[in-house]
Amino acid sequence: MIPILIMNAILMSIAILLVVAEKFLVTYGECEIAINKDKILKVQGGDTLLNYFAQAKIFIPSACGGKATCGYCKVEVLSGGGHILPTEEVFISRQEALKGLRLACQVKVKNDIEVMVSPDLLEAQELKVTVTKIEDVTSDIKYIFLRLDEPASIKFKPGQYVQFKIPETDEFRAYSIASSPSRDSLIELVVRLVPTGLCSTYIHEALDVNDRIMLTGPFGDFYLREDSDRGIVCIGGGCGMAPIRSILFYLKEKGMPRKVMYFFGARSKKDLFFTEELRALEDEFKNFRYIPALSEPKPQDNWDGETGLVTQVVERMCPEGPNQEGYLCGPPPMIDASIKVLSGKGIKDIYIYYDKF
Ligand SMILES: Cc1cc2nc3c(=O)[nH]c(=O)nc-3n(C[C@H](O)[C@H](O)[C@H](O)COP(=O)(O)OP(=O)(O)OC[C@H]3O[C@@H](n4cnc5c(N)ncnc54)[C@H](O)[C@@H]3O)c2cc1C
Ligand code: FES
Repeated sequence: MIPILIMNAILMSIAILLVVAEKFLVTYGECEIAINKDKILKVQGGDTLLNYFAQAKIFIPSACGGKATCGYCKVEVLSGGGHILPTEEVFISRQEALKGLRLACQVKVKNDIEVMVSPDLLEAQELKVTVTKIEDVTSDIKYIFLRLDEPASIKFKPGQYVQFKIPETDEFRAYSIASSPSRDSLIELVVRLVPTGLCSTYIHEALDVNDRIMLTGPFGDFYLREDSDRGIVCIGGGCGMAPIRSILFYLKEKGMPRKVMYFFGARSKKDLFFTEELRALEDEFKNFRYIPALSEPKPQDNWDGETGLVTQVVERMCPEGPNQEGYLCGPPPMIDASIKVLSGKGIKDIYIYYDKF
């Protein structure tokens, strides 16, 4: 037992020494990063592709801040970049690996490298904003109002997200935009407190009105498909409310041209929010229905609405038929279960869009 412990300690020390030595002793000289066979970045090698992109103001989505836990920072590496790392294998399928896909946060630039970045991502920009209002909407969710300072307006698709830079750090976290794109000089977010979470704790405990913040974006392929006339089934939970609200308010401004059902899952009445405005939307448009479902209503809730898991309620109330599409946002188990229910209703997987968080 003791020799194994000693051996482990020796191996650990060697690993730490190698990391420290690489950081301080190894220099890789000047390297070129060729982007989309068009733009060349000249860098002193040794850092990650993600960091070099950020320095050049190319904002690749990086919801986990480069920890290889979100899988959002995929780029295609045509040459250079070395072998795929074990940290990337969870997110890069064999097929993607064959195409050269890598996580930009895991690719260390040690020599010249050629990469392809989706043109959509090249449109993401740095956004300077000022906090104008903060409201509590539940005991652990805050509703944040941000005014755009620079640029003065932003173009995004309803459902997309921005990344919030935690001040005094190089860390970013993703937050879906809760407001409609037509109000292009402001951005609204809803942020749930994750106990011990770096960014959500900062937002809940330190962020104040008049603070100036840096965002990047917009990002994401979870957005309203406007070229479709299918019925829409939205399923949300927690802060999954945010992108769905953006979609709904955008549809409202367009006159709610499609039939929409919105199922929202919560534990008890205290976890519901934005209820009044969603009920008002129901009153305004006969083709919109808001169906909150409580899984554990409390006696004092006097709840006479739907009960059970939101997926059970969708199973009961959502009509069968392929001429619908799904927009799902919330915790991963809820999304996985919702996809199964919607597939069972005859909706093809390609018409089920989701963001899990
Ligand atoms: C596309 C996208 C959109 C998002 N939109 C929103 C949004 O609109 N509102 C919102 O509140 N959040 C949203 N998130 C989640 C958000 O980006 C952060 O992950 C979350 O706020 C936690 O960050 P943190 O820095 O506070 O916690 P961290 O310091 O990153 O994590 C601390 C600990 O909490 C765990 N943890 C991280 N996230 C969660 C979580 N969501 N639930 C439970 N445990 C967690 C981690 O595993 C870690 O152990 C979104 C995420 C993505 C990918
Ligand atoms: S930034 Fe999250 S996996 Fe790379």
